Amino acid sequence: MRILGIESSCDETGVAVYDGRDGLLAHVLHSQVALHAQYGGVVPELASRDHVRKTLPLIREILAQCRTRPQQIDGIAYTAGPGLIGALLVGASIGRSLAYAWGVPAIGVHHMEGHLLAPMLEDPAPEFPFIALLVSGGHTQLVRVEGVGRYEILGESLDDAAGEAFDKTAKLLGLPYPGGPALAQLAEQGDPGRFKFPRPMTDRPGLDFSFSGLKTAALNALRNSSDDAQTRADIARCFQDAVVETLSIKCCRALEQTGSARLIVAGGVGANRHLRTSLREAVGRLGGQVFYPRPEFCTDNGAMIAYAGYRRLAVGQREPLAITALPRWTLSGLTGLNLS
Ligand code: KG4
Ligand code: ZN
Repeated sequence: MRILGIESSCDETGVAVYDGRDGLLAHVLHSQVALHAQYGGVVPELASRDHVRKTLPLIREILAQCRTRPQQIDGIAYTAGPGLIGALLVGASIGRSLAYAWGVPAIGVHHMEGHLLAPMLEDPAPEFPFIALLVSGGHTQLVRVEGVGRYEILGESLDDAAGEAFDKTAKLLGLPYPGGPALAQLAEQGDPGRFKFPRPMTDRPGLDFSFSGLKTAALNALRNSSDDAQTRADIARCFQDAVVETLSIKCCRALEQTGSARLIVAGGVGANRHLRTSLREAVGRLGGQVFYPRPEFCTDNGAMIAYAGYRRLAVGQREPLAITALPRWTLSGLTGLNLS
């Protein structure tokens, strides 16, 4: 079964072809960073218009790249939510209509399920069950995963998501959008001992997170110090260390509480080098194993949507003819597949 996947929930247009027998055949990504940079963040209407311009040319490009004719595509998967409604509607309309025109089934994929299953594209792929840490721009969640679609949320952020905290702190440090990678780069030159930021909610039981206070701590540090390049790098470093250590503590706690030895990490912040090393060490000390997608599949991409769509289409799930996009959609509301 050969599936075309389309991702258009935010500021990247991603397209990929996944084959049930041969694996991932090709993927392409168009980033809108240059388009939104002058505004310091994503402008939803500009995002939608750019998806309109890019999606069909990217589909033509990828089919050519993997020498696949439309007649060889057995199904189409597109991100149906959560995300920006206009952006989602572009991918959903194109995906659903193309499937109708080509006479193949379509499936609307949950964006976070896409992230969660992205480590399955790697070798070795993790086996179910496992604990997933989802860390993106909009979500920070610890999820117990029994199989595809069988998700129990163990904890989540009560305010800002980890990626959002990176982006907001980057902004107050004067870094350009997108802030997360820029802050991580600046942190390389920072002194880890200069500021002591809190590790929020680690001193009480439970698996929820709260990151908005860290952004305030960073702001206070900036106000109370001489504003020079080294101070900014030190704040970036101490902020990153605080987020990473907090995530690490909660991940280890989740593994201990559930008796699981496997952690997967997915979503944009999962591309953070420091987080990857720290989690590998911390989980290793518990005798467990961490699985990551390659960094380019941590951030938004079409490959994860093609794969998640493949898993659902392969067991007969189908979208009706209506074009549906859900800006808000909880992961725990998904239907589980018996075949995992
Ligand atoms: O998963 P993603 O691409 O989109 C969403 O679904 O939100 O995640 C984007 C988030 C942004 O907040 C971005 O700043 C953050 O991931 N991010 C990073 C890094 N790369 C992306 N944060 C920290 N370090 C990075 N290297
Ligand atoms: Zn995402």
